[in-house]
Amino acid sequence: MNEAIRPGTDNTPQAHQASLPSPQLSVVVPTFNERDNVTVLYRRLEAVLVGIAWEVVFVDDDSPDGTWDVVRALAQRDSRVRCIRRIGRRGLSGACIEGILASSAPYAAVIDADLQHDETQLPKMLSLLASGQADLVVGSRYIEGYKSEGFNKQRAGASALATELARKALRVEIADPMSGFFMVRRDRFEQLAPKLSVHGFKILLDLVASANGSLRAVEIPYTFGERQHGESKLDSMVALDFLGLVLAKFTNDAVSLRFILFAMVGGIGLVVHLTTLFIALRLIKVPFAEAQAAGAVVAMTSNFVLNNFLTYRDQRLKGFALLRGLIAFYIVCSVGLLANVGVAFSVYDQEPIWWLAGMAGALMGVVWNYAMSGLFVWRK
Ligand code: GDD
Ligand code: MN
Repeated sequence: MNEAIRPGTDNTPQAHQASLPSPQLSVVVPTFNERDNVTVLYRRLEAVLVGIAWEVVFVDDDSPDGTWDVVRALAQRDSRVRCIRRIGRRGLSGACIEGILASSAPYAAVIDADLQHDETQLPKMLSLLASGQADLVVGSRYIEGYKSEGFNKQRAGASALATELARKALRVEIADPMSGFFMVRRDRFEQLAPKLSVHGFKILLDLVASANGSLRAVEIPYTFGERQHGESKLDSMVALDFLGLVLAKFTNDAVSLRFILFAMVGGIGLVVHLTTLFIALRLIKVPFAEAQAAGAVVAMTSNFVLNNFLTYRDQRLKGFALLRGLIAFYIVCSVGLLANVGVAFSVYDQEPIWWLAGMAGALMGVVWNYAMSGLFVWRK
């Protein structure tokens, strides 16, 4: 028998287990370009979690600044640190989900790497879960006692508006469903995980909306601090992304978030088209056919750009692939337009109700464009 696996020697799995207590708390940290922040966060976790068996899982989307390299170095020194380096995938929600599913403690926390969240709340959050008082504890910026240092006025306003919308449309009862700082029982999370969207930023909102009131949530206030190093990755696309998530949850996930985003972009494209048509006809005074063609080209181009930034942000095309994708998108949409007109015409032929025929055609067009874009433009 091999010396290393004989029972009773120091190398047995049992002996290994004894030297590493199984973790009670897994801290999941999504990272993208956080090279200068991860070591500081690790030290703070180490300081604040004394007496708790914990592990930390960094989920890095192949940061260009090499954050994963810094995390690896930490993991070399401390086996409580783990690094998941994802290549060819991007997205905050997906990273959090993957990190939680890859961890093993009965409780999992999600915290940003940039030190804007207050890690000193973690022990309190853990005791609320461990004592059975809650299934989910949310670090909230909207309840009494909260103070926000890192929010500018404009963003605070947009955030408050979005929160109201989410609460009204989805009957989400918590005060800060946009928070990126929470702790959850892993068994409850795992039950809900199949319903969660890996796209987008709002994993907590998704979790609470998907739970449909079945998660007992407690909120604790914390101070949302200033970002220490690097910059925020949440761009103007976040607003659209959020709207898409609200719609997807509103339909009870009957349609995918990606399709909703694609259709929303299509709606914006219609406005772009009509605006271009108006400008070309009235201001530049070109003939109708040319103006209509210009509207179509401008709208297709802007749809392509928006889809590349929003709908397919996790597989954004760049460089030559961007040009190739744009041409493929023109072709897909042109055929889509034929399908649109064809369907509208045959509906109108059966039942001459203009808006019904128009809607059927538009639906055909968007479904076609979506399916074909996935095959030929943003193909994986
Ligand atoms: N793996 C991965 N992939 N991580 C990402 C990605 C991504 O595509 N995008 C962002 N992150 C990481 C960042 O590195 C950071 O650790 C964290 O996710 C939050 O990103 P920020 O760019 O700092 O977002 P923010 O500060 O504007 O907003 C955050 O805090 C708000 C308040 O709690 C987010 O957590 C929001 O969801 C939250 O509302
Ligand atoms: Mn941040």
